[in-house]
Amino acid sequence: MRLLALVSGGGTNLQAIIDRVADGTITNTEIVGVISNKPDAFALERAKKAGISTSVVSRKDHPDKEEFNKALKEAIDSYKPDLIVLAGFLVVIPEEIVKAYALKIINIHPSLIPSFCGDGFYGLKVHEACLSRGCKVTGATVHFVDEGTDSGPIILQKAVYIEDGDTAEVLQRRVMEQAEWKIMPKAIDLIANGKVSVEGRRTLISEKVEL
Ligand code: GAR
Repeated sequence: MRLLALVSGGGTNLQAIIDRVADGTITNTEIVGVISNKPDAFALERAKKAGISTSVVSRKDHPDKEEFNKALKEAIDSYKPDLIVLAGFLVVIPEEIVKAYALKIINIHPSLIPSFCGDGFYGLKVHEACLSRGCKVTGATVHFVDEGTDSGPIILQKAVYIEDGDTAEVLQRRVMEQAEWKIMPKAIDLIANGKVSVEGRRTLISEKVEL
């Protein structure tokens, strides 16, 4: 399976994927490229260090959203991906790309969907909202991307406990360590090995998953 990762930031989820491909936990998978919308994203350094081809498609280099969307689609198409992984990609995927790659795009979201998701919920904002509400449990979700925001079929979720005194930064790190860096590689391996099917809004996983 040809995997293409889209990133915007630090790239710790990308690193988890690189490491799990390297150690054989993720099988049947080659990371063929990494595309960032931010030229200075540290994720690009991680990709280069691992010998992976990189591209930058920045909104600033395009006069309007339409041109940006076109350039993004061209960059994606050029890698001929079987699976596109949004690994901390903070751009809403344009409808034409979702349609062209139906059930071939997955996203990691740092909460238990349908809590704290949708427009405006990304990165630290998710954890801030969760702490403000006084939640005792949160987690992460890997899901297929559809035309909505965080609304596609859920593939895997993992819960994480919130502790007294947590800040958004502390909680973000715990959710990454205990949930995101585990469920994203696992979801990729399941898809690469044909173990995920979709029925309406639900996914069926033909293997017992232990995280
Ligand atoms: C991760 O926590 C990811 O779940 C989140 O951005 C962070 C990226 O970190 N994604 C979203 O909020 C998507 N709505 P990373 O660049 O270190 O992987």
